[in-house]
Amino acid sequence: MILPVRVGVIGGGRMGAGIAHAFLLAGSAVTLVERDGASARAARQRITASLQGSHERGATERPPAEVAPRLRVTTDAGDLGGSALVVEAVFEDRDVKTAALRRAEAVLDVDAVLASNTSAIPIGDLAAGLDRPDRLLGLHFFNPVPSSALVEIVVAAQTAQGLVETAREWVLALGKTPIVVRDAPGFASSRLGVALALEAIRMLEDGVATATDIDAAMELGYRHATGPLRTTDIVGLDVRLDIAEQLHAALGERFAPPELLRRLVADGHLGRKSGRGFYEWSTG
Ligand code: NAI
Repeated sequence: MILPVRVGVIGGGRMGAGIAHAFLLAGSAVTLVERDGASARAARQRITASLQGSHERGATERPPAEVAPRLRVTTDAGDLGGSALVVEAVFEDRDVKTAALRRAEAVLDVDAVLASNTSAIPIGDLAAGLDRPDRLLGLHFFNPVPSSALVEIVVAAQTAQGLVETAREWVLALGKTPIVVRDAPGFASSRLGVALALEAIRMLEDGVATATDIDAAMELGYRHATGPLRTTDIVGLDVRLDIAEQLHAALGERFAPPELLRRLVADGHLGRKSGRGFYEWSTG
């Protein structure tokens, strides 16, 4: 399967820039839409730096100068016209996402595919705001996108069946592994990842073992690359708490956020980005 010649990305933050990077390296032309000129310039810099970093690390032989001409950064959603696929990666906010998807839908061909990179908003809810809800699915990339092997394809009740196979082939063409997940709270990755993290935090609260030893249980005992507490520090305790609260509301008591997690977030200990979470991090 060949990737679409033209791909659109809406939002050029951490995830959107990474998604643009992945499609550019795989050969697509990418039109990235940002909300204003300053954000557009920042997005272009982010993508150029990330392409340069991959080249320097030897992850790709393609120098940025070869790839960058296929990138167009704009503030006009009208420029998405002609894209076969548009991936939305704006803020995690229903209204912002729905508005961005609607603007894209208005200029796309009827057979174009729309995808959302949402972490936790049901795809069905976003689809409800569209004129062609059957053209939307979730493409949940992981951070950092260029080096992460997994993409969750999230299929809602209204998603056209043919889209799933197309999306699967596109993900494979990006050199990544797709998993297909029903539009259920937390999809597969957040639900399992948060379940493990919450139990690890409760074990720490109960004095079962130190953070290092709890992580070692999973890293050495189960060959997880990174233990649940260290992972929570890297993801951000506030991000984890937010997802836990959503899963708590949707799936019940087993996702109730532990008091320790609430306290650390309230005290500003958000993990690596703030210098402290379950571990101390050098922020320099
Ligand atoms: P971010 O805050 O780094 O980037 C969001 C970008 O969207 C910003 O550059 C902002 O200027 C832009 N934006 C906002 N409104 C816009 C609009 N109306 N039109 C065009 N651009 C607009 O956020 P991040 O981390 O990249 O997350 C984006 C999405 O990806 C969220 O839905 C998030 O939940 C999801 N996600 C995040 C992951 C992560 O580890 N950061 C992992 C997987 C999914």
